[in-house]
Amino acid sequence: MEPITIRQPDDWHLHLRDDAVMTAVLPWTARTFARAIVMPNLRTPVTTVEQARSYRARILGALPADMRFEPLMTLYLTGATSAEEIVRARESGFVHGVKLYPARATTNSQFGVRSIADCTAALETMQRADLPLLVHGEVARPDADVFDRERIFLDEVLIPLRRDFPALRVVLEHITTREAVEYVREAPGRIAATITAHHLAYNRNAMFVGADGSAGMRPHYYCLPVLKREDHRRALVAAAVSGNPRFFLGTDSAPHPRRDKESACGCAGCFTAPFALPLYATVFEQAGALDRLEAFSSEFGPDFYGLPRNPGTVRLVRGTPDEIPPVMAGDQEFSALGRDVCRWRMTTAV
Ligand code: NCD
Ligand code: ZN
Repeated sequence: MEPITIRQPDDWHLHLRDDAVMTAVLPWTARTFARAIVMPNLRTPVTTVEQARSYRARILGALPADMRFEPLMTLYLTGATSAEEIVRARESGFVHGVKLYPARATTNSQFGVRSIADCTAALETMQRADLPLLVHGEVARPDADVFDRERIFLDEVLIPLRRDFPALRVVLEHITTREAVEYVREAPGRIAATITAHHLAYNRNAMFVGADGSAGMRPHYYCLPVLKREDHRRALVAAAVSGNPRFFLGTDSAPHPRRDKESACGCAGCFTAPFALPLYATVFEQAGALDRLEAFSSEFGPDFYGLPRNPGTVRLVRGTPDEIPPVMAGDQEFSALGRDVCRWRMTTAV
């Protein structure tokens, strides 16, 4: 099998966290991806341009001297985000989107949006300034079934929002359902979606399987939106390999300490950065579409965000990635997911 050489990709949806955790996980992204859209859901969310400026400086400060990486910053939308903050974000040159977390939908979303009506001024200004809205597309109502939350969000929130702001550029993040694929494919206006490696590689059975294939529970496979059934996974794979520029790579790599993932009330999020590109390559190969990997990974994202495509290349060779040493931040360990199914490996070491 020939090695694969593609234009260097970017990760259009990434959680880097902060402090020691960021320092531990960042090299695993930077060895593959030139840039990443960095999510703002820190414990103290990144709601202002000044906070984004300082977070960006911390990321660059944590980068090993021999690595290059450009963090593309985002703001966390709240009911209090002002039109002036949006204008400052647009003018900053380093804020590339504003993230909508429905309140209580996911990790650190308690400061998120309770009602879209609270965000009218911010959304109008984003539409005018052409600053993209990045959407966690799930309703958080406790009465809504966890597996239906994305589908309900499309009808109850996203479609009305896009009717009210038809020129707003929107990325529906980490889509997980056939309904989201169909919506993004057919909807008018400027919309795109990111698709994670784990939602392409696994269906919800991965969360419920024991060592010998019988019963068990696998908290490391728990993320939000939650893994769905096989027919949804297939719809995601079909979208990713379709060559439609509305679908592009975003890992949603979201590290949580192993002890929090494995506790009685585990955290949502899969840490996939170390194996992300090999995972995508494996899925594309299995779909007979390796020739479409480069456009999905390295072209459609920058085109949508209005940024240049990367000049460099990365290389993958046939084989299983090396096991990686435990990723440690102090006494906290982070377990990376995905190695077991990879049939490709990066040639670069971290
Ligand atoms: C993310 C996190 O941990 O920050 N978790 C996840 O399950 N994907 C937040 C998010 O993107 O929903
Ligand atoms: Zn995320």
